Amino acid sequence: MQVTYYGHSCFSILVSGKSLLFDPFVSQNELAIQVDVSAIPADYIFISHGHFDHMSDALAIAKRTGARLVAGFEVGEWFQKQGCEHVHLMNHGGKWKFDFGTVKLVNAVHSSVLPDGTYGGNPVGFVIESADGNFYYSGDTALTMDMQLIPRICAKLDLALLPIGDNFTMGIEDAVIASEFVECDKIVGLHYDTFGYIRVDHELAVRKFESAAKELFLLNIGESRDI
Ligand code: NI
Ligand code: MN
Repeated sequence: MQVTYYGHSCFSILVSGKSLLFDPFVSQNELAIQVDVSAIPADYIFISHGHFDHMSDALAIAKRTGARLVAGFEVGEWFQKQGCEHVHLMNHGGKWKFDFGTVKLVNAVHSSVLPDGTYGGNPVGFVIESADGNFYYSGDTALTMDMQLIPRICAKLDLALLPIGDNFTMGIEDAVIASEFVECDKIVGLHYDTFGYIRVDHELAVRKFESAAKELFLLNIGESRDI
């Protein structure tokens, strides 16, 4: 699968010829100033929760591209009220078949409120199964026992995108355990370096995953890689 990193937790993953964009926060991210938000492609936009660092560019990208926005019920409803035309509402435990494959909403332990104070429901993670591969995008979350359910209820994962920045989410050590819980050997790190509280030592992070026989990918902002 081709994975493109736009900084913080924002990734585009090409699956069955469709661009799946996750948690767009680019124009307000000082580390991503070289990224042209108006050129980011999207057929689908996934929003894990309502915090600004996961959705601040979503409405503009949805309006420009006509992408379908997929989110938990409360976050999706909020986007509908902002004039987002194509929204697919889901909730925890639910699965739906789209034209690129299936999406299952899984638990995340975090919080969720929209920028105007609207309640955002519970935050979610996404498991995508497709002919091109299967992956888990956890969103912001703590390490949770619920992750052990994923290998039981979903197809074998080829890739897991997990937070490693600590303070607001799991840190590196917990993310190693999470990768064991979800039984995935290839991990893409997210939610690190953007703010002072979440800076990580890249070499140390890679080594900690290596010592658990896992491979950690830390992409450069703007980089695309086949993983
Ligand atoms: Ni958050
Ligand atoms: Mn966040």
